[in-house]
Amino acid sequence: MIKLLTVIGARPQIIKAAAISRTIKNKYAGTIQEMILHTGQHYDQNMSQVFIEELGIPQPNYNLGVGSGKHGEQTAKMIAGIEEVLLSEHFDGILLYGDTNSTLAGAVAASKIHVPIMHVEAGLRSYNMAMPEEVNRIVCDQLSSILFSPTETGIRNLKKEGFFESTAKFQNGKYRQVVNCGDVMYDNSLFFSKMAQEKCDILNRLGLTKNGYILSTIHRDNNTDDKKRLTSIFSALLDIAERDKIDIILPLHPRTKKLLPTNLEPEIYKRLLSSERIRILPPASFFEIIELERNARLIMTDSGGVQKEAFFFERPCVILRPETEWVEIVEHGAGIIVDANYDKIIAAYIELTGKKICFPQLFGDGKAAEHIIETILNYLTK
Ligand code: UD1
Repeated sequence: MIKLLTVIGARPQIIKAAAISRTIKNKYAGTIQEMILHTGQHYDQNMSQVFIEELGIPQPNYNLGVGSGKHGEQTAKMIAGIEEVLLSEHFDGILLYGDTNSTLAGAVAASKIHVPIMHVEAGLRSYNMAMPEEVNRIVCDQLSSILFSPTETGIRNLKKEGFFESTAKFQNGKYRQVVNCGDVMYDNSLFFSKMAQEKCDILNRLGLTKNGYILSTIHRDNNTDDKKRLTSIFSALLDIAERDKIDIILPLHPRTKKLLPTNLEPEIYKRLLSSERIRILPPASFFEIIELERNARLIMTDSGGVQKEAFFFERPCVILRPETEWVEIVEHGAGIIVDANYDKIIAAYIELTGKKICFPQLFGDGKAAEHIIETILNYLTK
């Protein structure tokens, strides 16, 4: 029996892990034992437990309960906790997802005690070193035994960084492997969207109709923590909603909710509070968010995951960041990068509502989780 430790911590990791857990349970239960460690980076019920229940992930075997804190402090607590678990029983490998502080902590802890690291969502780059996520993903890629890239772009990035010529050898005598396996989030969107249609009545509850609203999410620290940027984004949202008499549905990350009163210009904050068009909701569950995405006229977001789901559900996307790791969305004209610039947000909204867009299959064949497991089994058993 192969024993793997999956590390989750932030909301998107719980969702990504669902694809692999499901595949192990359905197809490899006799070969792989998966144990789950939750760092506790996200701890609110609606940022964590709700996803574990809805997506049918086994309850974590370990919960470090780390909570919020400064980057170093939060990451250090996680490294110590993960190390303890890795030393307490034997694991053949550790599965890490994406680019959060939980990913970084898992990579640092496992690399020092020679547990092979399998990084799902490797190779992505924004080339913006000011983003904590960029630092996390670069370090994790360097320390990984198997790098699972979701796209061709990821493979190209790793080539540029010399990963294919690397002679780095790990303690088990093996060299690094780099694989384009497709995107586990695409697997999930295919798998869960039918279920969400049947089980989730959020559109009815909110009185929304297909194509009758815009969906927006905002949580990146460079948007939430910067008064000018946050005010500029919200001014644009308010103006679009009022001018076109269209509702903007805004499920809000706790970080953003906390910062709105202090970081929005008072006049914009007042307008937001009295606006009937901008509808602020608590963070959505996965079924709720995919139902909201699937039926929106357009999506405005600074989230990497939501950008991609917009593409999977063939919705145009205004990207509220200075750059993106998902460059293929922009290259195919399905998304426009606007940073936090008021004029660019308005112009992109107008351009994307008026044009025909094509959405080719760029994120794999919907079986990324299976390709990942097969590669891991080959690596560990041959
Ligand atoms: C983290 C990831 C980011 C990912 C995002 C998804 C890092 C560096 N960033 O950002 O890549 O896109 O998760 O959501 O790991 N908070 C709560 N309740 C919670 C969780 C957070 O109130 O359950 C608040 C706290 O004030 C906390 C702040 O949100 O300080 C930020 O949380 P943190 O996990 O540090 O980063 P995110 O912004 O969520």
